[in-house]
Amino acid sequence: MQYRTFGQVGWKVSAIGAGTWALGSNWGPQDDRQSVAALHKALDLGCNFIDTARAYGNGRSERIIAQVLKERSGDQVYLASKIPPKMPGDWPPSPYDALEDRYPASHVQAELEASLHDLQTDCIDLMQIHTWSRAWNDHPAVFEQMARFKQQGKIRAIGISTPEHDQNAVLDLMRMKLVDSVQVIYNIFDQDASMQIFPLAQQMGIAIIVRVPFDESSLTGKLTATTTFAEGDIRGGYFAGDRLDRTVRRVEAIRQSIADREPEMATAALKFAMKPKAVSTVIPGIRNARQAELNCSAGDQPPLSNELEAELRRHYWRRPFWYAGK
Ligand SMILES: NC(=O)c1ccc[n+]([C@@H]2O[C@H](COP(=O)([O-])OP(=O)(O)OC[C@H]3O[C@@H](n4cnc5c(N)ncnc54)[C@H](OP(=O)(O)O)[C@@H]3O)[C@@H](O)[C@H]2O)c1
Repeated sequence: MQYRTFGQVGWKVSAIGAGTWALGSNWGPQDDRQSVAALHKALDLGCNFIDTARAYGNGRSERIIAQVLKERSGDQVYLASKIPPKMPGDWPPSPYDALEDRYPASHVQAELEASLHDLQTDCIDLMQIHTWSRAWNDHPAVFEQMARFKQQGKIRAIGISTPEHDQNAVLDLMRMKLVDSVQVIYNIFDQDASMQIFPLAQQMGIAIIVRVPFDESSLTGKLTATTTFAEGDIRGGYFAGDRLDRTVRRVEAIRQSIADREPEMATAALKFAMKPKAVSTVIPGIRNARQAELNCSAGDQPPLSNELEAELRRHYWRRPFWYAGK
């Protein structure tokens, strides 16, 4: 496993980390024993960075991680969790939402305490604000509270996770150096983060965590136009209507670009996400030991060639634009 420096915080984190959303909620049925086995396997293979959130089953994912870490005392593992906005409310937040309504100080304090409790620790390595609105950039008061948590020794570093529809909303927070890390979507389809966020992160010494490297699993190459998803699996909505069919056709074009230059599509997708210098760690979702093995293997391999990276960049897909049509 390769290790990379986590911005100015300086931790040496594994290039492949573990994403644990599905271990907590929103991805259909998940057996906790499989989750435990997945995390053990990832740690056995040198992964030392785990991303979780309160929102992943109201602490279920955090509790599974705590159980695994208890079974392997002594391992240096960096834990990252997230404080959700106060619910009910829009996710991502609406521009009409006030920061003091979605991230009130009492809520932020309570969510931190709940994470400390469920992760069974006195100090969390990285605490991230789970989502954001650019409407809050002029008075981002929640980061003063996060800085106090740092002074109190309850967290070691402060992060932000980008709102998926407007990732550049966090650029001002980066320029103000209010965060030590930014968690972004970056994959063969969604390459926006490479335009402004990555160069600014390098300039400011801010770590980059890449989430959703498989576009919620399509870039593993395993979906077909007739794939169905279990009840409660977010992919039922994400790939609703004609989106699954359109996605599968684009994935097929990517497969043809890769040809025989990479043996596995999933590994190629991870290597694409790992390629930019700004990236400290990529956190694919890992639901079982087999996926842990496949995904961690990308951290042992030579980088994607510059030629293949350039070719894969051509598969950039500007999905959010309504005027691009269906
Ligand atoms: N706003 C935020 O901050 C935010 C949002 C999203 C995600 N995240 C974080 O980022 C992590 C990664 O994103 P994600 O889990 O949403 O999506 P992803 O990494 O793009 O896709 C993960 C899914 O792909 C499948 N998979 C994983 N490895 C595979 C392999 N080698 N071969 C075939 N299938 C494989 C698994 O689902 P199946 O086995 O069911 O197919 C897994 O749940 C999350 O777990 C979470 O920690 C954060």
